[in-house]
Amino acid sequence: MRLEFDILTLFPNMFQGPLQESILKRAMEAGIVAVRVHNIRDYAPGKHRQTDDTPYGGGGGMVMKPEPIWNAAEAVLGEDIARRGQDVAVVLMSPQGRLFSHAVARELARYRRIVLICGRYEGVDERIRELLATDEISIGDYVLSGGELPAMVVVEAVTRLLPGVLGDPGATFEDSHAEGLLEYPQYTRPAEFRGLKVPEELLSGNHAEVVRWRREQSLRRTLERRPDLLKKANLTAADREFLRRLGWGEGEDADGQD
Ligand SMILES: C[S@@+](CC[C@H](N)C(=O)[O-])C[C@H]1O[C@@H](n2cnc3c(N)ncnc32)[C@H](O)[C@@H]1O
Repeated sequence: MRLEFDILTLFPNMFQGPLQESILKRAMEAGIVAVRVHNIRDYAPGKHRQTDDTPYGGGGGMVMKPEPIWNAAEAVLGEDIARRGQDVAVVLMSPQGRLFSHAVARELARYRRIVLICGRYEGVDERIRELLATDEISIGDYVLSGGELPAMVVVEAVTRLLPGVLGDPGATFEDSHAEGLLEYPQYTRPAEFRGLKVPEELLSGNHAEVVRWRREQSLRRTLERRPDLLKKANLTAADREFLRRLGWGEGEDADGQD
């Protein structure tokens, strides 16, 4: 097994659909990835298996108790709990975490095991962050009701990067963000749809021409939509020249070196 995910959640049923479809399903069947979902409630002590409680200091809402989450991680990881931060990551899903990105997905794809902790309510007792988590990830600057959807986002983005998951091994290299640029526009048959024709360069059969067109479209699109990405992108001298002709650098960052 290449990479094992363990998801700790109060709502395990939320994962049923996404894990049983398409690329994730095939990656699991191929033994490239394992995704196990654990109900935190099963690890809560006491007759009532209480998983949340009122916040110290008052205020509304409930906070997830630390013991059930700690117990779940200990039971699920076994001896691997000592390997946290080495080849095992324990990630707390949180709107306060570092922003998830292609680069972070790549980082995570290097681990052997990843535990994803899904919060609910007002969040998770701070001591889980301090004692158990090795990472804290947010999927964007907005607040969801729980960490389940963010955990699915992480599982899917990381799994796509594992060797053997996608039919075309080169596919992820050209995806948007993989090389710091947005991907070029994609077309398929028919060659004309409602008066709009597929660009001639793509129909030319000239491979070099197709490569040039795609690169330029990728640069143009990134400049138009996400000029911030160009600062960190891997650009050749020809790329820079092309961008300058489009007006890039007529302000700050003219050389794109910073
Ligand atoms: C309603 S939120 C709690 C927000 C918390 N009170 C705060 O202000 O930071 C409940 C849970 O949803 C998850 N969550 C919400 N938004 C998220 C985001 N943008 N990225 C990752 N996880 C998120 C986290 O696991 C969080 O503990």
